[in-house]
Amino acid sequence: SSPVSAPTQCVGPEYRSESQKPIATVSTPVDVDTVTVLPQTPQLIALLSIIRNKDTQRGDFIFYSNRIIRLLVEEGLNHLPTVEHTVTTPVGRPYEGLAFQGKICGVSIMRAGEAMEQGLRECCRSVRIGKILIQRDEETARPKLFYDKLPEDIADRWVLLLDPMFATGGSAIMAVDVLKSRGVPEERILFLNVLASPEGIRNFAVKHPKVRIVTAFVDPGLDEKNYIIPGLGDFGDRYYTR
Ligand code: URA
Repeated sequence: SSPVSAPTQCVGPEYRSESQKPIATVSTPVDVDTVTVLPQTPQLIALLSIIRNKDTQRGDFIFYSNRIIRLLVEEGLNHLPTVEHTVTTPVGRPYEGLAFQGKICGVSIMRAGEAMEQGLRECCRSVRIGKILIQRDEETARPKLFYDKLPEDIADRWVLLLDPMFATGGSAIMAVDVLKSRGVPEERILFLNVLASPEGIRNFAVKHPKVRIVTAFVDPGLDEKNYIIPGLGDFGDRYYTR
């Protein structure tokens, strides 16, 4: 298991002095340049505090996780390529704007990743979404691909890979192997997750150094059962069953 010391910081808007801002635990720094961590705003820290709380009931867990997932998707979309695009407004004036370039799709790592599909659909109308099921092989104790259903033209798309918990990185590494075997280059994959661990990020970045990672928060480590700590427990259980 890993050290559990995490950085703390004053969190609040810039117009407040440091002494007026409450102190909270913020994301652990990682020096992997493919990682984007969401800004550690009071809102994000408050949302994370709700979903981390063991006493938060399922309805609230779903609602507040969905809020964080929405923030992740919104940030993820900023990493997609755009081109210059000028439009004419109803008053006849040009506006020099941008348009997204290229098609996208989502791919969720079942089951927890499916919880992120709605947030993607809310931002990208009628987006195509594929699925990958990876589970621990009881014989080898290693992750094994059990099922996948992916858009047939996935090689022509940008892929937003969805899994809320990025613990050891084992499933995410295998999911990207599957995407690469279908012709998706690493550069066109964005991995979105709610909570990551430094070891997960490092393992993953060694195998897939060009895949970009967007996470809400990096916790300091894993426990002996490979749960993220302090973490939030089993995301799939809390979202789907309890
Ligand atoms: N998956 C979870 O749901 N939680 C963890 O802490 C690690 C993996």
